[in-house]
Amino acid sequence: MKNESLRTAALPLIVTRMTQHLLLGQTLSFSGDPLTSDWADVTRHDSQGGVLVVDGRIVQVGPADVLKRAHPQAQTHDYGDALISAGFVDSHMHYPQTAMIASWGKRLIDWLNTYTFPEEMRFGDQAYADDIAGRTLDLALDHGTTTLTSFCTIHPESVDAFFGAADTRGMAVVAGKTCMDRNAPDGLRDTAQSAYDDSKALLQKWHGKGRASYAITPRFTPTSTPKQMHALGALWTEFPDCLMQTHLSEQLDEIAWVRDLHPQSRDYLDTYESAGLLGARGLYGHAIHLEPREIDRIAEIGGALVHCPTSNTFIGSGLFDMAGLKARGISVGLATDTGGGSSFSMLRTMAAAYEIAQLHGTPLHPSQLMWLATEGSARALHMGGQIGSLTAGAAADICVIDLGSTRAIDQRTNRASDIWEALFPTIMMGDDRAIKAVWVNGTLR
Ligand code: GUN
Ligand code: ZN
Repeated sequence: MKNESLRTAALPLIVTRMTQHLLLGQTLSFSGDPLTSDWADVTRHDSQGGVLVVDGRIVQVGPADVLKRAHPQAQTHDYGDALISAGFVDSHMHYPQTAMIASWGKRLIDWLNTYTFPEEMRFGDQAYADDIAGRTLDLALDHGTTTLTSFCTIHPESVDAFFGAADTRGMAVVAGKTCMDRNAPDGLRDTAQSAYDDSKALLQKWHGKGRASYAITPRFTPTSTPKQMHALGALWTEFPDCLMQTHLSEQLDEIAWVRDLHPQSRDYLDTYESAGLLGARGLYGHAIHLEPREIDRIAEIGGALVHCPTSNTFIGSGLFDMAGLKARGISVGLATDTGGGSSFSMLRTMAAAYEIAQLHGTPLHPSQLMWLATEGSARALHMGGQIGSLTAGAAADICVIDLGSTRAIDQRTNRASDIWEALFPTIMMGDDRAIKAVWVNGTLR
């Protein structure tokens, strides 16, 4: 009885103590996938909108005047005519490559050997890993990205560094120990057994802790023996709610190498499938040069492909077929792939996706680009509705975009006759200067 009365007495106190925030500005949200439905039917824009945030969650999105009247107690943050969007979700990147981004003149395999592997060698040093992990997450937030999906290195320290730094910042992240037991230098190889043991220990330590999700991470077929891939496939069977991330069919030389290494396999995807590494919770980065059978199989299984457009042009990999793959019903996320990607900005990444789609003759509408950078990536991560969405019930991971952040953008936006004309110059020419505010889990950064 005593407990009961204490509980009822305490409840109103808890409610009033919860800080309520009302963000005002233009709002952009989606009720469906604008790449598979008519974008205009599933895109909602309110030129005078509001977002009510309570206790880290979005509780209501609607017209500003309605929300102001209904919630006079809320702390108001008026962003004028800036655009309030879900925070960006980067569905494939390599935080250990932050310090070597924009390295000149190599293609994939040479680029890995020349620039990437020597840098990744340093991540056995906990202090270095902590430094780069924190730096990467801060850079992401500067650019309006509230979720990163990262490869780490073979070192468990690199995984602890990343999840620890994300936890400190309250960010939802996905990451895993990158596993490699062949075709990598001394000091950057594990074994089938140690990859399994370390991945399992890290998964048990981090998966579901706070906002962390673990992804089992074989780097790609050339650097994992069949024995290692089978061990990681077995681990995925033990922990089926984890994601699995890897690379697939990025460059023609790489595909030829995979064919040499696995003459019995039907194709590149088959090297994963035969090891238990093809599944609905699989994330396959790049996926540019797919065979018809591979496309059929991914469509059937429901795994997600991740488009990394700045990387695909920077490393000279090729042109991802967004329209063709979406038409097959395949889930596609959007990603920077830093440091193979040349920018931390998901705005710049959208611009590159637009340009690649143009080269296919299928330009993406700004609403489609924004969806891919937020909810599309979240759905690829099986986190749709939880992150990447400006709707009630989602985490309050939000970015506020200034649509006139530079003189060049502003003079163009001033002529705009609707939100899409006002937003597109920022997608094409914007960077971190366009990010006016970032909220992470309901806290203003
Ligand atoms: N394939 C295997 N490893 C990598 C990597 O680190 N970056 C890119 N772009 N492709 C890869
Ligand atoms: Zn990658």
